[in-house]
Amino acid sequence: MKTAVSATQVERFRALVARYLGLKFEDSKTGLLAEVLQRRMEWNALPAEPYLARLEARQLRGEFGALAQELTVGETYFFRNIDQLHAVRDGVLPERARAQATRRCLRILSAGCASGEEAYSIAMTLRDVLPDPSWQLWIRAVDLNPAMIAKALQARYAGWALRETSPAMQQRWFRQKGRDLVLDDAIRAAVTFEERNLNEDDPELWQADAYDIVFCRNVLMYFTAQSAAAVVARITRSLAPGGYLFLGHAETLHGLSQAFHLRHTHGTFYYQRKDGVAQPERACLQQDDVAVGPALTAVVEGAGTWIDAIGESSKRIRELTQVTMSTGAAAGVLEPWHLGPALELFQQERFAEALGMMQAVPPESARDPDVLLLRAVLLAHSGQLAQAEDVCHRLLALDELNAGAHYVLALCREGAGDRRGAADQDQAAIYLDPTFAMPRMHLGLLARRAGERETVRNEMTHALALLEREDASRLLLFGGGFNRETLLALCRAELQVCGESV
Ligand SMILES: C[S@@+](CC[C@H](N)C(=O)[O-])C[C@H]1O[C@@H](n2cnc3c(N)ncnc32)[C@H](O)[C@@H]1O
Repeated sequence: MKTAVSATQVERFRALVARYLGLKFEDSKTGLLAEVLQRRMEWNALPAEPYLARLEARQLRGEFGALAQELTVGETYFFRNIDQLHAVRDGVLPERARAQATRRCLRILSAGCASGEEAYSIAMTLRDVLPDPSWQLWIRAVDLNPAMIAKALQARYAGWALRETSPAMQQRWFRQKGRDLVLDDAIRAAVTFEERNLNEDDPELWQADAYDIVFCRNVLMYFTAQSAAAVVARITRSLAPGGYLFLGHAETLHGLSQAFHLRHTHGTFYYQRKDGVAQPERACLQQDDVAVGPALTAVVEGAGTWIDAIGESSKRIRELTQVTMSTGAAAGVLEPWHLGPALELFQQERFAEALGMMQAVPPESARDPDVLLLRAVLLAHSGQLAQAEDVCHRLLALDELNAGAHYVLALCREGAGDRRGAADQDQAAIYLDPTFAMPRMHLGLLARRAGERETVRNEMTHALALLEREDASRLLLFGGGFNRETLLALCRAELQVCGESV
């Protein structure tokens, strides 16, 4: 029979797991934590209090590894997110090879490598593309879970792990052994595996200028925000200037680091370390929601583009203002930059006056991301698209991961007749902030004009779900003066045109 543990003890256990392993567990996972705590107490033959005290004092040898086996997700497979491997093969590796022409060695870290499929996929992909045989490719792969490292070293896999592996790669690098597939020694020899904790400031693992490329994919999503930011800071330190970082598809550096350029090739996003000093995080706008406005569908139908529809807006923003300004929230939040009055004019669609007021912004605030974003939105709303683009680029030079700037750029690109460029900018905004509804809706509208029904259906379905929860201040700034209900109605109407019942 299991020893009972109290809610306080489980809470303490959760805090220790976050502190030492970096892992976050939501309230819904406290049942799992309680079971693991009980199992580990039993295995160590300790009651709860001594177990927690010794865990806290790091006196239980091998315990973090044992906890990793219980608490981490080791899902992985060969050639996962293959677009990223192609981006490395075609662009990143040749560029890093030029940077390392003297050293003639490229150093890659697979951080959170699980059972080795990621590191081995890198080795298989890059083996043939090194400049010449005198070059060395050094791949270091680390994971907290000792069982994963043992499996990686065995290099023996079930067929399921090769579900995304091409027949040519399978034939070249694997041989059948029983029901499993065993990896060729040449690839095994290219990778070094170690048990390491990414959540520790390990001076050997995180030496300065140690890696050309770091893969840390599908790891940070399980971390607390604080631990994720600390790991990214270590990765930044250990990457060569101009080195590259690859995260999982569902992960971004947005809100974690300003030390990277965002790169987008091969249909995938990744990051390149810059040498500039990190910028402070942007303050968030906050505002209460409002719900007034005309039927947007008619306006959008009549307008050439979404930016035209925004330009044709009339009274909408004024109506919103009357409600929102009575809350006082916008003016209050923006007070430090004295943007309240300009925002108020924006909300009244007095764009020229708002822009004029922003000319008077003191020089020390002129580089503030909030100031630049509002200026870009104002310029876009008043039809000055080239100037709006210019301001967006200035903002992105300061804060490259600013999803709002990418969205305004998407509007500008559409206005300039560059549909592909508009879609790229929307994709960047979505990648950087998957909760941002407007670029989804805009992508849907772009697709509608191109007659791409499947994309319309997909994007409008996403937009509909996101709009329900979209931040009110963001709707105010980016919603083109349309309120939540009107934007939702537009999405539903577009979906109905595609034959969806909503
Ligand atoms: C979902 S797998 C990702 C595997 C591979 N990177 C991929 O994308 O396919 C996450 C891995 O991160 C490892 N991990 C979690 N916390 C860690 C930590 N603090 N230090 C090192 N590895 C950790 C887990 O053990 C697990 O193997």
